[in-house]
Amino acid sequence: MILVALMVAAPGAVAAQTEHGFKPIAVEQDFNENGFNWFRHALLLAAGNERQSNAMTIGWGGIGTLWRKTAVTVYVAEKRYTKQMMDGAQYFTVMAFADRRDEILEYMGTKSGRDGDKARALGLHTAYTEHGTPYYVEADMVLECRTMYAAPFDPQYFKDDVPRQMYANFPAGVHTMYIGEVVNAWRK
Ligand SMILES: Cc1cc2nc3c(=O)[nH]c(=O)nc-3n(C[C@H](O)[C@H](O)[C@H](O)COP(=O)(O)O)c2cc1C
Repeated sequence: MILVALMVAAPGAVAAQTEHGFKPIAVEQDFNENGFNWFRHALLLAAGNERQSNAMTIGWGGIGTLWRKTAVTVYVAEKRYTKQMMDGAQYFTVMAFADRRDEILEYMGTKSGRDGDKARALGLHTAYTEHGTPYYVEADMVLECRTMYAAPFDPQYFKDDVPRQMYANFPAGVHTMYIGEVVNAWRK
C-alpha cells in the first residue's frame, strides 16, 4: 500500500494524504497538544522501509525548533530493535492513537520486533509515505520526520546525577538522540 502524496507548491505546505482518512496539517498552526505532556502520554515511533519496518512505544521526546526547522526529538535505547531501523533510514514517524491506544502502546512497549511482527500481531496495517516511511493507518496523527542529527548520550557530559542514576542500572543501554525535521504531518 503506497500512498500517493501531492506536494503543495506553497512554501512550508505539507503533502496531502489521499487515503485512510488523514488530512495534512501544518504543525506550526494546527498542532494543539501540550508539548510538555505529549510524549509523556506515550506515542509510537516507527522506522524502516517497505521490506522491513518496526515500531515501539516512546515516552520521551520533545517538539520545538532547531536550525530554523520545526523539529521533533526522540530517544531510543541501544538495545531496541527499532534502533536498527532508525539508523538505517533517513526518516521516521511519530504516531498518536485514539482507538485501541492503551492496547497498542502496551504491546509495542513490552514486546520486541526481534521476536515477531508486532504490527501484524495487533492487526495494524502498515502504509508508507512518499519517502517510504512506515506508519499505521489506524493512527490518529502521524508526524513524518527527516533525521538531521543522531548521537548517543556521552556519559562524560552528564552534568548531574539524574542521567548518571538513570543509566547505572539500565540494561537497554544509553539512549541515542534523534533530531528530525518535521516534513509532513497528518491528522484524522
Ligand atoms: C510507556 C512506555 C514508554 C517508553 N518509552 C521509550 C523511549 O522513549 N525510548 C526507548 O528507547 N524505549 C522506550 N520504551 C521501551 C520500548 O518501547 C520497548 O523496549 C519496546 O519493546 C522496544 O521494542 P523493539 O525492540 O521492537 O524496538 C517505552 C516503553 C513504554 C511501555
